[in-house]
Amino acid sequence: MTILRFAADLRSLPQPVMFVPTMGGLHEGHLNLIHAAKRHGGTVVASIFVNPTQFGDRADFDAYQRDLGRDGELAEGAGCDVIFAPSVEQMYPGGTEATRVHVPEVTDKWEGEHRPSHFDGVATVVSALFNMVRPAKAFFGQKDWQQCVVVAKMVRDLGYPIELRFEETVREPHGLAMSSRNERLSADARRRAAVLYTAIRKTADEFRLGGEPRAAEANTSTILLQGGFESVDYVAIVDEDTLAQADLPTGQHRVIAAAQIEGVRLIDNIRV
Ligand code: PAF
Repeated sequence: MTILRFAADLRSLPQPVMFVPTMGGLHEGHLNLIHAAKRHGGTVVASIFVNPTQFGDRADFDAYQRDLGRDGELAEGAGCDVIFAPSVEQMYPGGTEATRVHVPEVTDKWEGEHRPSHFDGVATVVSALFNMVRPAKAFFGQKDWQQCVVVAKMVRDLGYPIELRFEETVREPHGLAMSSRNERLSADARRRAAVLYTAIRKTADEFRLGGEPRAAEANTSTILLQGGFESVDYVAIVDEDTLAQADLPTGQHRVIAAAQIEGVRLIDNIRV
């Protein structure tokens, strides 16, 4: 496996390129994306870039785990051919306050409300990465469902000739969605945090069976607080594509949620 630092070096790679964008801190969820990319053939490129413009909090950005040696070994073991690990200066030649990509509407609510400017940072870096890597297909995890919706809209609106693949969330044995943030939890909190998954599953079942959506959302928040979460940012049953809050179980929906345990903010979602 090769580690490339410069976008120009990506030009000579055998095509087509299957692309897995990451910020490092690789876990089973990322490795699942690399496996999926591998199954599509071509050259598998994973980017490792801790993107400063998507962090609201400088301390969070500084604390983000960076271990290219470990990530490189894991990625290679999963079948990755090339790691693209640019510097901040290469990703943002005009500085981090330069041009931004803003995807309207689907970024207004949920994560957008709690992490202002986060999705502008994500859309900007994904757009720049797509231009540098020029993949045929790009692979994202469904755990960040709103991110999937934002990237899909950006690709449609800007006409990127890229097929997007959204892969199923990989979970720990008791159900907690894999996330680099799980590492920050004590063993006890990590066990208790599994209630996030069981609670949203229950909400999805209730809604499917005709339950009143606002009551189901409120019950889920209560379950999370009783189960050891300190606070709940949102629990919502939403249209899968528009992220508008749903009233009736017609169409395709997701239950999305964000809550904090031991000061760590976790998100998850499930298809109804
Ligand atoms: O999901 C992530 O890890 C990041 O948001 C992404 C897509 C790599 C952009 O920095």
